[in-house]
Amino acid sequence: TAQRELADFLTAADRAVAFTGAGLSTECGIPDFRSPGGLWSRNKPIAFGDFRAHPAARNEAWRRKFVMDASFAGAQPGRGHRALANLLAQGRLSGIITQNIDGLHQASGVPDMDLVELHGNGTYATCLDCRRRYELGWVKTRFEAAGGIAPDCEACGGPIKSATISFGQAMPEREMARAAALTDTCDLFIVLGSSLVVYPAAGFPLMARRNGARLVIVNRQPTDFDEMADLVVRDDIGDVLEPFL
Ligand code: OAD
Ligand code: ZN
Repeated sequence: TAQRELADFLTAADRAVAFTGAGLSTECGIPDFRSPGGLWSRNKPIAFGDFRAHPAARNEAWRRKFVMDASFAGAQPGRGHRALANLLAQGRLSGIITQNIDGLHQASGVPDMDLVELHGNGTYATCLDCRRRYELGWVKTRFEAAGGIAPDCEACGGPIKSATISFGQAMPEREMARAAALTDTCDLFIVLGSSLVVYPAAGFPLMARRNGARLVIVNRQPTDFDEMADLVVRDDIGDVLEPFL
Protein backbone atom coordinates (compact mmCIF):
# COMPACT_ATOMS: atom_id res chain seq x y z
CA THR A 1 0.00 0.00 0.00
CA ALA A 2 0.96 3.66 -0.28
CA GLN A 3 1.16 3.93 3.51
CA ARG A 4 3.65 1.08 3.60
CA GLU A 5 5.74 2.73 0.88
CA LEU A 6 5.71 6.05 2.72
CA ALA A 7 6.80 4.27 5.92
CA ASP A 8 9.65 2.60 4.02
CA PHE A 9 10.75 5.93 2.54
CA LEU A 10 10.78 7.46 6.04
CA THR A 11 12.78 4.57 7.44
CA ALA A 12 15.33 4.84 4.65
CA ALA A 13 15.73 8.60 5.06
CA ASP A 14 18.31 10.33 7.24
CA ARG A 15 16.78 13.77 6.93
CA ALA A 16 13.11 14.00 5.97
CA VAL A 17 11.25 17.29 5.62
CA ALA A 18 7.47 17.80 5.49
CA PHE A 19 6.10 20.67 3.40
CA THR A 20 2.48 21.46 4.19
CA GLY A 21 -0.35 23.42 2.58
CA ALA A 22 -3.96 24.27 3.27
CA GLY A 23 -5.08 20.69 2.54
CA LEU A 24 -3.60 19.63 5.89
CA SER A 25 -6.20 21.71 7.74
CA THR A 26 -9.36 20.93 5.74
CA GLU A 27 -10.17 18.04 8.08
CA CYS A 28 -10.09 20.61 10.91
CA GLY A 29 -12.90 22.56 9.23
CA ILE A 30 -10.68 25.24 7.69
CA PRO A 31 -11.31 25.52 3.93
CA ASP A 32 -8.36 25.54 1.54
CA PHE A 33 -7.92 28.10 -1.25
CA ARG A 34 -8.30 26.29 -4.57
CA SER A 35 -10.61 23.32 -4.01
CA PRO A 36 -14.22 23.80 -5.14
CA GLY A 37 -15.76 26.02 -2.45
CA GLY A 38 -12.26 27.14 -1.37
CA LEU A 39 -11.52 30.66 -0.19
CA TRP A 40 -10.48 32.00 -3.59
CA SER A 41 -13.75 30.82 -5.12
CA ARG A 42 -15.60 33.11 -2.68
CA ASN A 43 -13.33 36.16 -2.59
CA LYS A 44 -10.59 37.50 -4.81
CA PRO A 45 -7.38 37.86 -2.78
CA ILE A 46 -6.48 41.43 -1.77
CA ALA A 47 -3.02 42.18 -3.14
CA PHE A 48 -0.40 43.81 -0.95
CA GLY A 49 -0.18 46.96 -3.10
CA ASP A 50 -3.92 47.55 -2.77
CA PHE A 51 -3.83 46.93 0.96
CA ARG A 52 -1.08 49.47 1.39
CA ALA A 53 -2.57 52.09 -0.93
CA HIS A 54 -6.29 51.98 -0.20
CA PRO A 55 -8.04 52.31 3.16
CA ALA A 56 -11.10 50.57 1.66
CA ALA A 57 -8.98 47.50 0.84
CA ARG A 58 -7.65 47.47 4.41
CA ASN A 59 -11.17 47.69 5.83
CA GLU A 60 -12.29 44.80 3.61
CA ALA A 61 -9.22 42.68 4.48
CA TRP A 62 -9.80 43.13 8.20
CA ARG A 63 -13.54 42.49 7.85
CA ARG A 64 -12.81 39.16 6.12
CA LYS A 65 -10.16 38.23 8.64
CA PHE A 66 -12.44 38.75 11.63
CA VAL A 67 -15.19 36.65 9.97
CA MET A 68 -12.67 33.87 9.21
CA ASP A 69 -11.09 33.94 12.66
CA ALA A 70 -14.49 33.74 14.35
CA SER A 71 -15.51 30.69 12.32
CA PHE A 72 -12.24 28.80 13.02
CA ALA A 73 -11.73 29.87 16.61
CA GLY A 74 -12.25 26.33 17.88
CA ALA A 75 -10.22 24.49 15.21
CA GLN A 76 -8.02 21.73 16.62
CA PRO A 77 -5.04 19.97 15.00
CA GLY A 78 -6.12 17.10 12.76
CA ARG A 79 -4.65 13.63 12.22
CA GLY A 80 -2.12 15.05 9.78
CA HIS A 81 -0.84 17.64 12.23
CA ARG A 82 -0.65 15.10 15.03
CA ALA A 83 1.11 12.47 12.94
CA LEU A 84 3.72 15.00 11.80
CA ALA A 85 4.26 16.18 15.38
CA ASN A 86 4.82 12.54 16.38
CA LEU A 87 7.26 11.86 13.57
CA LEU A 88 9.20 14.98 14.52
CA ALA A 89 9.28 14.01 18.20
CA GLN A 90 10.57 10.55 17.21
CA GLY A 91 13.36 12.13 15.19
CA ARG A 92 11.97 10.74 11.93
CA LEU A 93 11.47 14.24 10.50
CA SER A 94 14.05 17.01 10.66
CA GLY A 95 11.63 19.86 10.15
CA ILE A 96 8.32 21.16 8.82
CA ILE A 97 7.96 23.92 6.25
CA THR A 98 4.40 25.25 6.10
CA GLN A 99 2.49 27.69 3.94
CA ASN A 100 -0.30 27.70 6.52
CA ILE A 101 -1.01 30.58 8.85
CA ASP A 102 -3.52 28.84 11.09
CA GLY A 103 -1.14 27.98 13.93
CA LEU A 104 -2.22 24.31 14.01
CA HIS A 105 1.32 22.91 13.75
CA GLN A 106 2.25 24.81 16.93
CA ALA A 107 -1.02 23.68 18.54
CA SER A 108 -0.05 20.05 17.87
CA GLY A 109 3.17 20.58 19.82
CA VAL A 110 5.70 21.35 17.08
CA PRO A 111 8.42 23.60 18.55
CA ASP A 112 9.14 26.90 16.74
CA MET A 113 12.70 25.80 16.02
CA ASP A 114 11.44 22.90 13.89
CA LEU A 115 8.80 24.92 12.03
CA VAL A 116 9.20 27.36 9.14
CA GLU A 117 6.15 29.54 8.47
CA LEU A 118 6.72 30.70 4.92
CA HIS A 119 3.56 32.80 4.68
CA GLY A 120 3.68 34.30 8.13
CA ASN A 121 1.33 33.98 11.04
CA GLY A 122 -2.26 35.15 11.42
CA THR A 123 -2.30 35.43 15.20
CA TYR A 124 -1.02 39.01 15.47
CA ALA A 125 -0.53 42.16 13.38
CA THR A 126 2.22 44.70 12.67
CA CYS A 127 2.53 48.25 11.35
CA LEU A 128 3.85 48.08 7.80
CA ASP A 129 5.91 51.25 8.33
CA CYS A 130 7.46 51.04 11.81
CA ARG A 131 6.97 47.28 12.49
CA ARG A 132 5.27 47.89 15.85
CA ARG A 133 3.31 44.84 16.93
CA TYR A 134 -0.44 44.91 17.59
CA GLU A 135 -2.64 42.22 19.07
CA LEU A 136 -5.73 41.19 17.09
CA GLY A 137 -8.05 42.05 19.98
CA TRP A 138 -6.79 45.63 19.98
CA VAL A 139 -7.36 45.93 16.22
CA LYS A 140 -10.82 44.35 16.46
CA THR A 141 -12.02 46.62 19.26
CA ARG A 142 -11.04 49.73 17.28
CA PHE A 143 -12.34 48.33 13.99
CA GLU A 144 -15.75 47.69 15.51
CA ALA A 145 -15.90 50.95 17.46
CA ALA A 146 -15.20 52.84 14.22
CA GLY A 147 -17.96 50.99 12.37
CA GLY A 148 -15.70 48.79 10.23
CA ILE A 149 -12.75 51.14 9.66
CA ALA A 150 -9.31 49.62 10.23
CA PRO A 151 -7.16 51.52 12.74
CA ASP A 152 -3.77 52.98 11.77
CA CYS A 153 -0.55 52.73 13.77
CA GLU A 154 -0.63 54.82 16.97
CA ALA A 155 3.07 55.51 16.71
CA CYS A 156 3.48 56.52 13.08
CA GLY A 157 0.06 56.47 11.37
CA GLY A 158 1.10 53.59 9.08
CA PRO A 159 -1.21 50.78 7.97
CA ILE A 160 -1.64 47.86 10.37
CA LYS A 161 -1.68 44.43 8.70
CA SER A 162 -2.03 40.88 9.95
CA ALA A 163 1.44 39.25 10.06
CA THR A 164 0.71 37.06 7.05
CA ILE A 165 2.20 37.37 3.56
CA SER A 166 -0.14 38.61 0.81
CA PHE A 167 0.30 38.32 -2.94
CA GLY A 168 2.78 40.98 -4.01
CA GLN A 169 4.40 41.19 -0.58
CA ALA A 170 8.06 40.34 0.02
CA MET A 171 8.71 36.91 1.52
CA PRO A 172 10.15 36.82 5.06
CA GLU A 173 13.92 36.55 4.56
CA ARG A 174 14.75 34.55 7.64
CA GLU A 175 12.03 31.98 6.95
CA MET A 176 13.10 31.66 3.31
CA ALA A 177 16.68 31.02 4.43
CA ARG A 178 15.61 28.42 7.00
CA ALA A 179 13.42 26.65 4.42
CA ALA A 180 16.29 26.63 1.93
CA ALA A 181 18.66 25.18 4.53
CA LEU A 182 16.22 22.38 5.43
CA THR A 183 15.54 21.64 1.75
CA ASP A 184 19.21 21.66 0.77
CA THR A 185 20.17 19.09 3.36
CA CYS A 186 17.20 16.71 3.19
CA ASP A 187 17.08 13.35 1.45
CA LEU A 188 13.28 13.01 1.58
CA PHE A 189 10.78 15.82 0.92
CA ILE A 190 7.10 15.10 1.60
CA VAL A 191 4.49 17.52 0.24
CA LEU A 192 1.13 17.30 2.01
CA GLY A 193 -2.00 19.15 0.86
CA SER A 194 -0.54 21.83 -1.37
CA SER A 195 -1.59 22.59 -4.94
CA LEU A 196 2.04 23.72 -5.55
CA VAL A 197 1.04 26.66 -7.72
CA VAL A 198 2.21 29.55 -5.52
CA TYR A 199 5.84 30.65 -5.83
CA PRO A 200 8.37 30.98 -4.37
CA ALA A 201 6.99 28.36 -1.95
CA ALA A 202 6.45 25.79 -4.72
CA GLY A 203 10.12 26.12 -5.65
CA PHE A 204 11.18 24.11 -2.57
CA PRO A 205 10.02 20.67 -3.78
CA LEU A 206 11.80 21.40 -7.04
CA MET A 207 14.98 22.37 -5.18
CA ALA A 208 14.78 19.18 -3.11
CA ARG A 209 14.36 17.02 -6.21
CA ARG A 210 17.29 18.73 -7.96
CA ASN A 211 19.46 18.04 -4.93
CA GLY A 212 18.69 14.35 -5.23
CA ALA A 213 16.14 14.04 -2.43
CA ARG A 214 13.22 11.68 -2.90
CA LEU A 215 9.96 13.53 -3.47
CA VAL A 216 6.61 12.33 -2.12
CA ILE A 217 3.32 14.11 -2.87
CA VAL A 218 0.21 13.44 -0.79
CA ASN A 219 -2.84 15.17 -2.27
CA ARG A 220 -6.35 14.06 -3.13
CA GLN A 221 -6.01 15.89 -6.49
CA PRO A 222 -3.28 15.69 -9.11
CA THR A 223 -0.59 18.41 -9.05
CA ASP A 224 1.79 19.66 -11.74
CA PHE A 225 4.68 18.09 -9.83
CA ASP A 226 3.31 14.53 -9.76
CA GLU A 227 5.39 13.32 -12.68
CA MET A 228 8.67 14.22 -11.00
CA ALA A 229 7.68 12.60 -7.70
CA ASP A 230 9.03 9.22 -6.53
CA LEU A 231 5.72 8.49 -4.83
CA VAL A 232 2.29 10.07 -5.33
CA VAL A 233 -0.40 9.24 -2.81
CA ARG A 234 -3.77 10.45 -4.08
CA ASP A 235 -5.75 10.20 -0.88
CA ASP A 236 -6.90 12.07 2.21
CA ILE A 237 -3.95 13.16 4.33
CA GLY A 238 -5.58 12.10 7.59
CA ASP A 239 -6.11 8.57 6.27
CA VAL A 240 -2.60 8.37 4.81
CA LEU A 241 -0.91 9.48 8.05
CA GLU A 242 -3.19 7.49 10.37
CA PRO A 243 -0.53 4.75 10.88
CA PHE A 244 1.91 7.37 12.23
CA LEU A 245 -0.43 8.59 14.97
P1 OAD B 1 -4.46 25.18 -2.10
O1 OAD B 1 -5.88 25.42 -1.71
O2 OAD B 1 -3.97 25.82 -3.32
O3 OAD B 1 -4.21 23.60 -2.25
C1 OAD B 1 -4.66 22.69 -1.29
C2 OAD B 1 -4.50 21.31 -1.86
O4 OAD B 1 -4.78 20.35 -0.87
C3 OAD B 1 -5.43 21.05 -3.04
O5 OAD B 1 -4.65 20.54 -4.11
C4 OAD B 1 -6.42 20.00 -2.51
O6 OAD B 1 -6.74 19.04 -3.51
C5 OAD B 1 -5.62 19.34 -1.42
N1 OAD B 1 -6.41 18.84 -0.28
C6 OAD B 1 -7.37 19.49 0.42
N2 OAD B 1 -7.79 18.76 1.45
C7 OAD B 1 -7.10 17.59 1.41
C8 OAD B 1 -7.08 16.41 2.23
N3 OAD B 1 -7.85 16.28 3.31
N4 OAD B 1 -6.25 15.40 1.86
C9 OAD B 1 -5.45 15.52 0.77
N5 OAD B 1 -5.41 16.60 -0.01
C10 OAD B 1 -6.22 17.64 0.30
O7 OAD B 1 -3.57 25.54 -0.81
P2 OAD B 1 -1.98 25.82 -0.77
O8 OAD B 1 -1.25 24.99 -1.74
O9 OAD B 1 -1.60 25.75 0.66
O10 OAD B 1 -0.93 31.97 0.24
O11 OAD B 1 -1.96 27.33 -1.23
C11 OAD B 1 -0.74 27.99 -1.31
C12 OAD B 1 -0.91 29.44 -0.96
O12 OAD B 1 -1.94 30.02 -1.77
C13 OAD B 1 -1.41 29.67 0.44
O13 OAD B 1 -0.38 29.64 1.40
C14 OAD B 1 -2.00 31.05 0.36
C15 OAD B 1 -2.75 30.90 -0.95
O14 OAD B 1 -2.94 32.06 -1.65
C16 OAD B 1 -1.05 33.21 0.66
O15 OAD B 1 -2.05 33.60 1.23
C17 OAD B 1 0.15 34.06 0.38
ZN1 ZN C 1 3.87 52.41 12.76
